[in-house]
Amino acid sequence: MEFVESIWQQDQDYMALIADLIENKDLLKLDDITHHHYTTRLTHSIFVSYVSYRIAKKMNLNVRAVARAGLLHDFFHEGREEIAAMELGSHNCVHPKIAVENAEKITPLNELERDIILKHMFLCSKVGMPRYKESMIVTCVDKYCAIYEVSQPLRAKTKTKVTDWVSRLRLVNA
Ligand SMILES: [Fe+2]
Ligand SMILES: [Fe+2]
Repeated sequence: MEFVESIWQQDQDYMALIADLIENKDLLKLDDITHHHYTTRLTHSIFVSYVSYRIAKKMNLNVRAVARAGLLHDFFHEGREEIAAMELGSHNCVHPKIAVENAEKITPLNELERDIILKHMFLCSKVGMPRYKESMIVTCVDKYCAIYEVSQPLRAKTKTKVTDWVSRLRLVNA
């Protein structure tokens, strides 16, 4: 995440695409919610949005839709227990629908943006295949970011241990 955090705010083209959304107080509340154990739902959403945006830009796709829908793909405030209590289906099935509803309260969504948000969990739910390349990018980046976020503390711990071992080896061989 650090590599994205250090550049997304400096990217004026990207910031212009999400300027109205990133100031919305309901969206900013996602920063109070833990996501993937070690990050917040807002940080994860920006991570997905920005990495997807960069890929879409390289592929000459609809960067606006990718940046905005990527940012809104997990726009829900409920926890797993609350969603389970709704009895509307699995978490993977329900949270994209809630995200679409919440997104439509703060900005109009076009067909592409709706598809991106609604289908971002298509691999583990029954919503059907994404209809657009942009949707495929966001769902793939979402999975990449999730794995990166969940494994980050483990990678940090491993790095510390390796550094420690290397220092000890240096001392032994000195
Ligand atoms: Fe999600
Ligand atoms: Fe996500």
